[in-house]
Formats: sequence, structure tokens, C-alpha cells
Amino acid sequence: MKLTLSVIKADIGGYVGHSESHPDVLAHAYGCMLKAKNDGLLVDFHVTKCGDDAQLVMTHTMGVDNKTIHELAWNTFVGCTEVAKKLKLYGAGQDLLADAFSCNVRGMGPGLAEMDITERGSEPVVIFMADKTSSGSWNLPLYKMFADPFNTIGLVIAENMHHGYAFEVHDVMHGKKITFNSPDEIYDMLVFIGAPSHYCVKAVYHRDTGDVAAVSSTQKLSLIAGRYVGKDDPVCIVRCQGIFPAVGEVLEPFTTPYLVEGWMRGSHVGPFMPVSIPDSTPTRFDGPPRVIACGFQLANGKLIGPRDMFADKSFDNARQKALDVADYMRAHGPFEPHRLPLEEMEYTTMPQVMNKLKDRFIPIGD
Ligand code: F6R
Ligand code: MG
Ligand code: MG
Repeated sequence: MKLTLSVIKADIGGYVGHSESHPDVLAHAYGCMLKAKNDGLLVDFHVTKCGDDAQLVMTHTMGVDNKTIHELAWNTFVGCTEVAKKLKLYGAGQDLLADAFSCNVRGMGPGLAEMDITERGSEPVVIFMADKTSSGSWNLPLYKMFADPFNTIGLVIAENMHHGYAFEVHDVMHGKKITFNSPDEIYDMLVFIGAPSHYCVKAVYHRDTGDVAAVSSTQKLSLIAGRYVGKDDPVCIVRCQGIFPAVGEVLEPFTTPYLVEGWMRGSHVGPFMPVSIPDSTPTRFDGPPRVIACGFQLANGKLIGPRDMFADKSFDNARQKALDVADYMRAHGPFEPHRLPLEEMEYTTMPQVMNKLKDRFIPIGD
């Protein structure tokens, strides 16, 4: 069956502060999605949240970048914003950067990851959702899943994975893209994707079949708005099993709570902590950054699930390590590398402070 899987998300108001989504807002989203399903626009849907971000998971047959589906998501978020405003939730409507919908939600604030697939005999997918971090935070785990044999043994011993995967990488600063073949070009690719604030892995494809394996959201809110309006809080869809990594290989990168940018005021570096869906409530110093994993089996477009994959006990050590790393990083206070370098910071008082003190700067001399 030909199918489109669309994940569209937005922060449309936090409860309390930026820590969680309010149930009334999610209930409104559910109502809009149910109506769209009853009207025949959607095959199926699931509404969830990651921290203060509302997440719409939709299956349909209208293809990626479809105006009707994007408008449905936009109008859902507009309605949710009204609910958020009544409750005076924090930052109500924060991610709706445009005044009105036009054609496509791309560039309007919401984050999106979509893929067109032919549903296989059995189609397991994992949808990762993050809060308090930037697009680009999927670079490291996507590399490990699809290019690192120390993570994914299937790359070595499964014949249908042995030829590797192609990575589509976006230069988000200059609006350009390039495709690298793995494993042949991994050294070249790592020069770029090791800098995730500039280069984001947008998609991964199976090299022999051309099938899409993974798609991530790469929208950068600060580039769209030209100022800080909250973190990107990206999402990523990964197909699993068969010609793709097994579910366990897809989850394995998150056993290391690697460092990502975001956290308090979008201006810090902190550990990416894998948590259950209910535990996606970034609280300590507005963090640490969280990642959830919603697992689904697709059945003729129906979303069977989600299974809350990081609720499993086997991620307890990763969580403990993340908390220890959070303590260690916090001990640096306002110093780099906990605080981001000046040019990367989302908030800064530097221009005002510099202006105030400019006459007191004198040459050092010899
Ligand atoms: C990080 C984030 C929060 C806010 C912080 C200040 O992505 O959303 O850490 O930056 O709570 O929020 P404002 O500036 O809205 O008072
Ligand atoms: Mg928020
Ligand atoms: Mg958020």
C-alpha cells in the first residue's frame, strides 16, 4: 500500500513555563484529527506530546508536502493556540510564526518530517521526538544507526544491509544539500555532520533499493524568525527491520546520553536524556534535553501503537548517566563549553554590555 507518514509538531504553549503540554490542548488536537479522519482526509492519526511540543502523527495517501494535510495541521495548531490562550499557558502560539497559512507549513514555524512509503508486509517504525534541543541533534544517532558497525551489527552480517546507506545532508545556513554514500564517504561526511548546527542529516536511503529509511525535521526556528523564539525541538522517523536496522539497533545510540545544544534559554550544551513519554517534562534548568521514542506497526495505514520504547528498564543506566552529566555540566555555570560560544547563543546581552563598556576598552600595547 502506498502511504504517507507525516509528523508535524509545534510548541503552542507550555504548562507550566516550558515544561509540559496541557491535556486540554492535546484534547483539542485529538478532536481536529478525529474529524479529519472521519472526513476521509486521514487514514489514521496519533496525538502525543514531548515536553511543551504537541505532536501530530498522521497517515494518509496524499503524498509529502500536501497542502490539505499541512493546512489541517496548521488549523489544528491555531485552534490549540486559542485553548492555550484561554488557559494563559506560557508562550501560547509560540511556534506559529506566520499570520496565516499559505501552501505549506515549511518555513512557518512548525517542525515536520514526512515520508512516502510502500508499506511492507510488516512495517515497524520508530518516531523520535525531542524537547529543548535543535535540529541537527539526530546527526549522531542516525550516523550510528546507519553507518557504524559498532552500533549496528547488521551492517556487517546482514546481506541486505551490507552495501550501506546514502545520507542526504542539508547545509541549513545556505539552503544547499548533498548526498554522501556510506561507508565509502564517511570520512568526508563526518567533516560536515559533526557540526550539527550547520549541517543536518535530512534523510537516509537504502543504497540498493533507494527506499527511504529515515527522515528528520531540519527547520531552524531562529533562521525562520531571525531571532530566538524557542528551540527547534526536532522529530525523526526511522523505518526498522528487514533491509533497515533492527528496532534494537535503532534505539542503541541513545544508550549514550550524548551532548546536544539547547537546554536553558537554548544557549547551553547538555546530555540528551532518553525518557518515557510521561517523563518528557524538562524541569531541571528547563531540561536536561529529552528524547522520546514512539514505536508503531503500520497496518494498511493504521497506526498500531505507540509502544513507549524508552520506558524500558534497559535505558535506566542511560538516564542515570545523563543526570550525572547534567550535574557535571551545570557545575560550569556561565562558562563554555556548558554555555554555548557567543555566536551560537540564542540569547545574549553582549551588544548592550559591549556598547556600555566600549570606551573603557583601550589597546593592550606591547
Ligand atoms: C529553551 C526554553 C526555555 C526558555 C526559558 C526562558 O528552549 O524554551 O529554557 O528559553 O524558560 O523563557 P522566556 O524567555 O520565554 O521567559
Ligand atoms: Mg516552549
Ligand atoms: Mg519545546
